Amino acid sequence: MGQVGTLISLLPLLLVTLTPKAWSKLIEANSDSFNAQSSAYAVSLATFCLSNYKPCDDIRGELKSAAETLQNYNYNASLISIDCGSQADICRELDIISYPTLRIISNGSISRYRGSRDSQSIFSRLIKELNPLVWPLEDGYLEDIKSLSIPALVIHVEENDHLTRQLIQAIAPDFRGSIVMGIVAHSMQDDPVERDLPFVDVYHPMDEVTRTFDGPVDQKTLDDFAQRLSRPLVGRFDPTTSETYEKSKVPLVYICADTDRERKEVAELVRSVATKNHGSLHFATLDTQRYGFHAYQLGLDIDKLPGLVIQDFLGKATFPLDQEEPITAELVDGFISSLF
Ligand SMILES: *[C@@H]1O[C@H](CO)[C@@H](O)[C@H](O)[C@H]1NC(C)=O
Ligand SMILES: *[C@@H]1O[C@H](CO)[C@@H](O)[C@H](O)[C@H]1NC(C)=O
Repeated sequence: MGQVGTLISLLPLLLVTLTPKAWSKLIEANSDSFNAQSSAYAVSLATFCLSNYKPCDDIRGELKSAAETLQNYNYNASLISIDCGSQADICRELDIISYPTLRIISNGSISRYRGSRDSQSIFSRLIKELNPLVWPLEDGYLEDIKSLSIPALVIHVEENDHLTRQLIQAIAPDFRGSIVMGIVAHSMQDDPVERDLPFVDVYHPMDEVTRTFDGPVDQKTLDDFAQRLSRPLVGRFDPTTSETYEKSKVPLVYICADTDRERKEVAELVRSVATKNHGSLHFATLDTQRYGFHAYQLGLDIDKLPGLVIQDFLGKATFPLDQEEPITAELVDGFISSLF
């Protein structure tokens, strides 16, 4: 790990111990200080308001609550509030004509804030803009991460477990863009958990089998696991993924069935075989309700599904598994061994 990595992983600790209150609270800016105050942070949300104006009073509580959450995580983001009654210059300069107006300031440019104006949406928006290496995932954010189209590795820690926090910060840079790393901090008093902390949960939207992490939470184990996680064990073959499979030239084992339930069942059945051949073979399901013709072209009898067929892109040959026998891990394992 380089110096930057060390710095990043130590930063939260230092900030907690040294400057707990100076970070990310709701900042009151004036015309002169606005630029300096917003550029002191990687991302800022500026709210332009009038005092004693109900819509502005209403949003203030949400801003404070979002600022508090940001502060807890020590992210380089701030919430800035400007009173356009007393600070007309800056509000005129930025063409503020209604109140409250919310603007995102990021990397020197100002853009509109379009989301809902509750604390959670505001917080989420800032975090997204910040795109941190490790996402804080308390409350509703866990649901957000599950809806992303890349795998997520979520580590649950005890609030004061700085070592595990550092550990995930240390491996996260290698997986930026391919895996979302998230952290959920549990306060044992307020929210006791049933499992022993720390533990890891995995979400893989493109995988037809459930991926679980049950190793010890240490850097090497997590790193190895994340390497393997970045590719699905059993993916999906469809028009959006077909090219990737074909271009890889790695033989592809298709699991063909009409329903999602059947495809997942067979995928789970052959999970051990897929694990064993991870790297030398690809495994993917094919929805024969939609792409039955493709299964037919591969040589399967589509009236006798579920079925399994292997396509060797290099040898331009396909090998359907005997459809008279029920699919089992042993059958598939033996079939693969006879071919490759
Ligand atoms: C926060 O971001 C600003 C602007 O990018 C940068 O100048 C500053 O060094 C950052 N602070 C920390 C503690 O990373
Ligand atoms: C910030 O802006 C500069 C100049 O416009 C650009 O070169 C740089 O890539 C930007 N950085 C990020 C993180 O967007």
